[in-house]
This record gives sequence, C-alpha cells and structure tokens, in this order.
Amino acid sequence: MVDTRSIVETRRIVELACAAPSVHNSQPWLWRQGDSCIELHADHSRRLHLTDPRGREMILSCGAALHHARVAAAALGLPAEVEYAPDLDRPSHLATLHLRPGEPSALAAAALDTLAQRCTDRRRFTAWPVPDERLAMLAASATAAGTQVLPLVDIGSRLRVELLVNRALDRQEGRSAQGEHVEGSDGLIVLLTERDDPRAWLSAGEALSEVWLAATADGLSLVPLSCVIEDDDTRSELHREVLGGLAEPQLVVRIGWQQIGRSELRRTTRRPVSDVLLP
Ligand SMILES: Cc1cc2nc3c(=O)[nH]c(=O)nc-3n(C[C@H](O)[C@H](O)[C@H](O)COP(=O)(O)O)c2cc1C
Repeated sequence: MVDTRSIVETRRIVELACAAPSVHNSQPWLWRQGDSCIELHADHSRRLHLTDPRGREMILSCGAALHHARVAAAALGLPAEVEYAPDLDRPSHLATLHLRPGEPSALAAAALDTLAQRCTDRRRFTAWPVPDERLAMLAASATAAGTQVLPLVDIGSRLRVELLVNRALDRQEGRSAQGEHVEGSDGLIVLLTERDDPRAWLSAGEALSEVWLAATADGLSLVPLSCVIEDDDTRSELHREVLGGLAEPQLVVRIGWQQIGRSELRRTTRRPVSDVLLP
C-alpha cells in the first residue's frame, strides 16, 4: 500500500527528473509509482522514427532522466539504489529506483541547484579555449558503469571530428544547424561504450547527465552534437578512424564558456507530471 507522503515525494522526484535533457525535447519517458520505488519506462510513442530508428537517443534521454531522478531523490533525503532492466520480458521497463530513507546532504542540495540551472545554451561560445585539464576533470565526473568519457585533445582527432560533424550537418538537409558547428576553441568530448545496446545507451545517458551537471556547476555550457552519430557513415568513420574500432561512440558534445552577463535563456517546456507518472 502506497502512502500519501510517498505519493508526494514521488511526484516531486519525477517532476525534477523531467527537467533532464532529451533529444529534441521529446521527453520519451514514463514513470510508475511503486511501494518505496519508482519505475522508469521508455515511452516508445515519443521515439523520433526518422533520426532514431533503433531508439538509441530515446534511451540515452531516459538515462539522463534516470540520473536526474537519483540526484533529486538524494536531495530529498531518499537516496536511491538502481535496479537495471528489472523485467526481461518487458524491455521498455528500463530501471527501478528503490528509495531508502536517509538524510539530505549539502552536496545533494547543491546538485539539485545545478539541475535547476542546466539547459542547452546553443549560443556561440567565447573564444576562450577550455583547458585540457578542465576537460579531463569533467570526463572523470562520469561514474556510470559501462560508459567512458573521452576528451578529444589531440589535434588530429579534433580535426577529424570537426570534419565529420560538418559532413553530417550538410547531409541533414532542411534541419536547422544553428549552434551545431564546431569552432577550434570549443572543447570536445565523446561518450563511449563497450557494447552498443539499450543497456549501454542508458548508461551513456546517465553519464551525459553527470557531465552536464558537472559542466554547469563549473560555469561551462554543453551542447550535444547528435548528427554525427545519427548518420551511419559518419558514425562508423568516428568508430573506425578516431576510436580505432575499440569502442562504440554514443554522443559527441561540445563544451565552452558563454559570455558573462548575457541575458537568461527561455526555458524549454515539459509535459505535465500527470501525463508521465502512471498510477
Ligand atoms: C541524446 C540527446 C541528444 C541531443 N542532441 C542535440 C543536438 O544534436 N543538438 C542540440 O542542439 N541539442 C541536442 N540535445 C539537447 C536537447 O535538444 C535539449 O535537451 C532539449 O531541447 C531540452 O532543452 P534543455 O536541455 O534546455 O532542457 C540533445 C539532448 C539529448 C539528451
């Protein structure tokens, strides 16, 4: 039997989790309240059929929401243990967060503040280069098992990835490419996994959220560059020529500083909690 207090807490955790980034703001997730737990499901009706035939970006987005949910739960004093793929007969059920009573920590409260500030800021970055050590620290902030975050710091790999991004953008005719071009001073990182399956995509989404929140806390902006992964040719070239065929690229992101004092951006909207939280 689910009590009223836990219904209120679940609602709040889900609301905060839904602030997560998602491909084209598709918000492809559904949540279900359980007894001291919250289930996360992929909402296949919101998959982008043309650009995401396998559901990779849908599940990456769910992974980001899963990490946001963990941050929110910890900040509310309910640290969560995550059970992955709990029902093999229902692959859409991606994970269950088991909530344990605990104490809200100052660290978790700070993370919650960062979560509220995070957004996709596609304006041009300043020309200040992001130092390699800073990129390495951001990469190290990702702890999601199964995903590695690789800063692209050697000039050869950088140039190759810039070319691939531009080629992928040229091919995506009719799509607005505003803010997606890479400048020489932009920091670049790639999220990599060993396997290329839904479990790996979920983990890459969690790592994306971890890195994004760490970048936000560090005053940096982060913009994903999905085009290079959505295009089969550029993705396989990235896999072969930049990564030596050793790991599966899941997402390329650019990182940089915005000019100080620029006005606040308009926030993207979210589906009402009542649409995504099933009884
Ligand atoms: C898997 C994934 C891929 C994304 N790909 C792109 C992209 O290629 N270009 C871009 O500008 N934003 C991209 N985004 C950012 C989303 O468009 C953004 O998260 C969404 O519109 C919600 O806005 P917000 O991040 O400001 O909350 C991506 C986000 C995710 C999670």
